[in-house]
Amino acid sequence: MKALITGATGFVGQHLASYLVDEGLQVYGTSRNNAGEINNVPEMKVMFLDFNDVTAIVDLLNKVRPDFVYHLAGQSSVKDSWTDKVGTFHGNIRLTMNLMEAILQSEIRDSVRVLTVGSSEEYGGFDSKGVPIAEETILKPTSPYGISKATVSMLARHYYSAYQIKVTHTRPFNHIGPGQRLGFVVSDFSNQIVQIEKGNQNGVISVGNLSAKRDFTDVRDIVRAYSLLLNQQNDLAWGESINVCSGKAISIQCILDTLLSLTEASIEVVVDQNKLRPLDIPVFTGDNTKLKSLTGWTQTIKLNETLRDVLISIRNET
Ligand code: GDD
Repeated sequence: MKALITGATGFVGQHLASYLVDEGLQVYGTSRNNAGEINNVPEMKVMFLDFNDVTAIVDLLNKVRPDFVYHLAGQSSVKDSWTDKVGTFHGNIRLTMNLMEAILQSEIRDSVRVLTVGSSEEYGGFDSKGVPIAEETILKPTSPYGISKATVSMLARHYYSAYQIKVTHTRPFNHIGPGQRLGFVVSDFSNQIVQIEKGNQNGVISVGNLSAKRDFTDVRDIVRAYSLLLNQQNDLAWGESINVCSGKAISIQCILDTLLSLTEASIEVVVDQNKLRPLDIPVFTGDNTKLKSLTGWTQTIKLNETLRDVLISIRNET
């Protein structure tokens, strides 16, 4: 069996490729950059692809003939979406449409199984008061990123109901792990801690909103859920949106405290006003009942283990 991962050299792409290779699949990846991208999975063949060029996507699909397409390429930062709305809509909506239109024109349109990646940000302004959010909840995205991903969920439904393309849309909540680039809370905090340990930063860690609560899952558990969803046999996931999450909310303060407990360094915490966002949903917890009933998925990696692994990987690389 063959899998094609778009955005294959990113954080999630690398973990997914590694998982699929271990599962015995032939794995191909696409990247928007011609060169200089790091690929830690030598078994995966990474090819340059311009997602603005639908003909090039069709050619690549006909050449590789993947059984599975994992569409991870896109603009993944909620924070950056506030300053680059057009780029966010283009990267997440237009390029997903290009992929789906290319699939329609390809020789594999009837057989290929496609996964799109959305976000808990699609739920946005819903005030759950900490109650786990289920997929039927009305979408009220507040960030440009959330709006773009909510649109992708509608595109997934559209291409399945109108053209019977087997596509399932995932709504991962916060996912973390080794290899995540800076700009996300765990990588930002961990990197600062390691820089302080190494003497590259004075003993002060700067942080944003510590009162927010988020539902964190290790990226290695997330990619396993993606694979299980595309392999499910009863055709119940097509056109559907499915949460991928732990079902528990943890405060950012708790994340910080756990990371600080894993270092010997003496560290002072300072809140940086520039790190606060125009809008920051207080609590996000996902209901993972649908994912579990469709696939039998369970979370296997505890939060403490993930945080420890993130620190170790940054210590080893810097
Ligand atoms: N990035 C960052 N840096 N966030 C901080 C910091 C900091 O120094 N201090 C506090 N925070 C808070 C943010 O305000 C937010 O409430 C929370 O930590 C999580 O922020 P991020 O890690 O940046 O993640 P996100 O929730 O905005 O987006 C992530 O999760 C989404 C799913 O919920 C991304 O992975 C998205 O791609 C994903 O869709």
